[in-house]
Amino acid sequence: MAIWLVLFITLFTVGESQTTNSFNQTDFEEAMTDMRSKSYYGFVILLKILNSQPNSLQTNDLTFLMPSDEELSQYSITPGQIHDFIFSHSIPTSLVLNHLLHFPNGSVVPSSLPSRVISITNSGRSGLFVNNAKIVTPNVCQTSFIRCHGISATLTFENDVPFRRAQDPKDPPKGSDVPHPTRSVRKMSIPPLY
Ligand SMILES: *[C@@H]1O[C@H](CO)[C@@H](O)[C@H](O)[C@H]1NC(C)=O
Ligand SMILES: *[C@@H]1O[C@H](CO)[C@@H](O)[C@H](O)[C@H]1NC(C)=O
Repeated sequence: MAIWLVLFITLFTVGESQTTNSFNQTDFEEAMTDMRSKSYYGFVILLKILNSQPNSLQTNDLTFLMPSDEELSQYSITPGQIHDFIFSHSIPTSLVLNHLLHFPNGSVVPSSLPSRVISITNSGRSGLFVNNAKIVTPNVCQTSFIRCHGISATLTFENDVPFRRAQDPKDPPKGSDVPHPTRSVRKMSIPPLY
């Protein structure tokens, strides 16, 4: 019981103690080393392309959800879609598996792309799901403040319809929708959409 309480407290304070984090290239390199050690090469390549664009990543307060190389190799992606792909496959706060496990079943959290949300479903023995994908290799990134988990599929987003503004020609250009780095876990308590 006490341990659960500690986990909850950790969850609710971790976002706030690190809110002043700006992007740290050293931490980012360490996270990518962790990813390579578990053979998430494709995801690392996409991250490097994104990172080569100015001001793409603005905080290390991130959890990446990484499809395997096999999954990525079957996914159609253009250079212009890399930003949205990576941002929709990340959560703008640092979460280890234990944090995710202690979200109430069916919780909805924002991805780093404001129009897209990720629901967390605990299917007991079948595992923990983020939208359509199962977390298959948890806690790959351990060295830096960035967290990452391997997932079974590229994420699909059915819940994002109410938020979509993609067809709006007045939409700001890519990159301007980067989440504010001070976003904390507490502010993530978005009610379920159903
Ligand atoms: C980046 O992170 C590393 C390790 O966590 C730390 O030693 C270094 O001082 C940080 N650099 C900056 C610019 O904050
Ligand atoms: C979580 O919700 C899903 C469906 O929304 C359900 O199938 C599953 O059994 C629930 N898990 C737990 C641990 O209650």
